[in-house]
Amino acid sequence: MKVIKVKNYEELSAVGAEIVIGEIKKNAKAVLGLATGSTPVGMYDLLIKACREGVSFKNVSTLNLDEYVSLGADSPDSYVSFMRDKLFDHIDIDIKNTHLPDGNADDLDKECARYSALIAAMPRAVQVLGLGRNGHIGFNEPNTPFDSATHVVELTADTVEANARLFERKEDVPRFAITMGIAEIMQAKKIVLLASGANKAQAVYAAVKGEVSELCPASVLQRHGDAVIVADEDAYALL
Ligand code: GLP
Repeated sequence: MKVIKVKNYEELSAVGAEIVIGEIKKNAKAVLGLATGSTPVGMYDLLIKACREGVSFKNVSTLNLDEYVSLGADSPDSYVSFMRDKLFDHIDIDIKNTHLPDGNADDLDKECARYSALIAAMPRAVQVLGLGRNGHIGFNEPNTPFDSATHVVELTADTVEANARLFERKEDVPRFAITMGIAEIMQAKKIVLLASGANKAQAVYAAVKGEVSELCPASVLQRHGDAVIVADEDAYALL
């Protein structure tokens, strides 16, 4: 696992964008694994800028990590709405080539199986990750088995609390989500985890220096052959 220390959020976003754009330049049909949360937003802004300057996403496909159960495209709080708002609606990607789990599916088990099959059929050149302050990746909370595939999770109180800032009322934060599993995250050829801010410092430390343990889902990246953690000064502080 490689760790890149950058000065601030701007640099973090630039490093992330450079890696993603590099993959598109290598292969115009690259499959990108994408993440939500506030951390990758600066990187998405730079991808939008790159698209305006000639980098085409026309043949690119995307697979997102997760979605809240019971939220879909009609909800502004869903991850599908987030991705449209922060990226997809501003680049030349074919929206049919963008994929997220369907949080509104009637049969969630069937939806998990459908999404797992899609992941298997679409090998990712790169998977972008954020980091929960408890070390979660996607919505794989501590104690999620490393061999997990796409599944429904009950979010921890800490995650509900951390994500409440993005909702008008804390009561509106869904308690369940569908997430890509850890084994599936690890199948991406390259993994780039972005971590910014002092509230991620503990999780960054555990991921990089801690033992590889299901107690810290991000520590699994130590076992990946091409994983990069990009951390700004505050997130890097305990290393
Ligand atoms: C959510 C998402 C994660 C994300 C995390 C951190 O829980 N499911 O994929 O990494 O939030 O979010 P932020 O980047 O806003 O700190």
